[in-house]
Amino acid sequence: MDKPVIILGLESSCDETACAITKDGALLCNVISSQIEVHRKFGGVMPEIASRLHLENVVCVIDEALQQAGIKMDDVTAIAVTRGPGLIGALHVGLQAAKTLALIYNKPLIPVHHLTGHIYANEFVKPLHFPSLAVVVSGGNTELVYMKNHLDFEIIGETRDDAVGESFDKVARVLGLPYPGGVEIDKLAKVGKHSYKLPTPMHDGTLNFSYSGLKTAVINLVHKLEQNGEKVVVEDMAKSFQDVAIGMIIERVKKATELYEIKQIVLAGGVSANSYLRSEITKEFENTEIEVIIPPIWCTTDNAAMIAKVGEYLYRDKVFASLDLGVDPSWRIEDFKKF
Ligand code: KG4
Repeated sequence: MDKPVIILGLESSCDETACAITKDGALLCNVISSQIEVHRKFGGVMPEIASRLHLENVVCVIDEALQQAGIKMDDVTAIAVTRGPGLIGALHVGLQAAKTLALIYNKPLIPVHHLTGHIYANEFVKPLHFPSLAVVVSGGNTELVYMKNHLDFEIIGETRDDAVGESFDKVARVLGLPYPGGVEIDKLAKVGKHSYKLPTPMHDGTLNFSYSGLKTAVINLVHKLEQNGEKVVVEDMAKSFQDVAIGMIIERVKKATELYEIKQIVLAGGVSANSYLRSEITKEFENTEIEVIIPPIWCTTDNAAMIAKVGEYLYRDKVFASLDLGVDPSWRIEDFKKF
């Protein structure tokens, strides 16, 4: 019998220190230490604090994962680690930990692109089938990624300025809502009315996005109302903004399905937790041949299970790095094999 493939995954690109272990595709454990409560006080992630907390937590999460899985380091086949994109110092901690384990236990080191992780998290729900469109929407990225096959990523549309999650967070901040703002806007929009008129961003016929104009329009409108002594109805502003922000995604995805052969749509990244995006995209494609995968909420936040999942495919293709590997905070998904 073949030996099982056991992948230890590590993730530290932002404010979660995480370690997970898979065995022949099955998830044995998924340990996450979140720093969100610490960063909430500052209204956003403080990079220096994030690095220090990763350093404090990384050994504990690895130990906990091995214990939960009942696995010894000697049993592990390979170590998969997030190499980018993300915060440079935060990434560095996870990579150093992975390199140390790879060196001591003589295991292959597999560098994983964080966003491929969010895409492959969907495989914990259903196998990906191709051609597939991944709608990658997070705090740092807004991309439509076309996949003809496994590990085949082509960006067919992306933001020209802000990421959609970033615009949710900035709008939330001007409305006085706590970090992470996307969650709060989502909640308030459920009870709000679309009563504020906001500009619908111009569509240049491509599949690209733009969020900075929309964000600025909300900020200017809020300031104008305040200067005039008028009360801003926060839930109505949240609903008005969310309708336009998510509407842009739905519209570009529809356009992509007209231009490309697509059998499956998968959502990926933090903003894929948005309830309006989930319901709108489901409605849009429910009576079509295109299958939409909605990831469970745990897959939308950062975790190492998704890193281990990509690690399995990269292990199969022998995509290994040497121990002089460095991080890449702005690594493009199409370059996931270049390091
Ligand atoms: O994937 P992620 O951790 O970002 C990066 O690593 O870049 O996602 C975080 C982003 C934040 O901008 C947060 O406000 C947004 O995802 N987010 C949401 C929701 N939950 C999280 N945005 C809209 N609706 C939500 N329910």
